[in-house]
Amino acid sequence: MAFLGRSNVGKSSLLNALVGRRAVARTSRTPGKTRQFNYYLVNGLLYFVDLPGYGYAKVSRSERERWGRFIGRYVSEREPLQLLIHLIDSRHPPTDLDLGVLELVKGGDVPYVIALTKSDKLSGNGRTRAEKRVQDLLAGYGIEAAVVLTSAETRRGLDELLDWIDTLTTT
Ligand code: GTP
Ligand code: MG
Repeated sequence: MAFLGRSNVGKSSLLNALVGRRAVARTSRTPGKTRQFNYYLVNGLLYFVDLPGYGYAKVSRSERERWGRFIGRYVSEREPLQLLIHLIDSRHPPTDLDLGVLELVKGGDVPYVIALTKSDKLSGNGRTRAEKRVQDLLAGYGIEAAVVLTSAETRRGLDELLDWIDTLTTT
């Protein structure tokens, strides 16, 4: 399964929290830390793939375009990909690049879950609003997918996310 989301959204942190170890994937305050596809074998059964973040301003336009094409192919053609976990910052409206991911997902048949990250930074009301905003967006795209409020800090939503991983993958 692959973790996809804009730069600095918290992909590496969430992956570490799910695996239950501190330093499996490298995290950083500096966006653009993950620049390659990093594969982590979990329980000898499946790979978590930490994808590079998108929308990182310091990356050249041509590099960004190449990345976009590559990710597009990766999610639409990559047969071993069992689940795409799309991370969106719970504090902000989805970006144009997030909407681009929805476009890709809409046309494909990869199982898909949205994890709203850093939900520890929001109040209860804020979390409810963030969840509703994304659910409404999905409805507009005609995509049926679970939306899970998560936090790598408080571990909110991690059990629920693991349940979805269990349900949607076949290993
Ligand atoms: P790139 O590899 O650059 O694409 O970033 P990434 O998506 O892997 O983000 P990363 O996990 O490195 O986290 C970015 C920053 O957000 C770090 O400073 C993390 O400590 C912080 N962060 C990640 N998850 C959480 C969370 O659940 N809560 C809070 N409060 N901060 C978080
Ligand atoms: Mg990273």
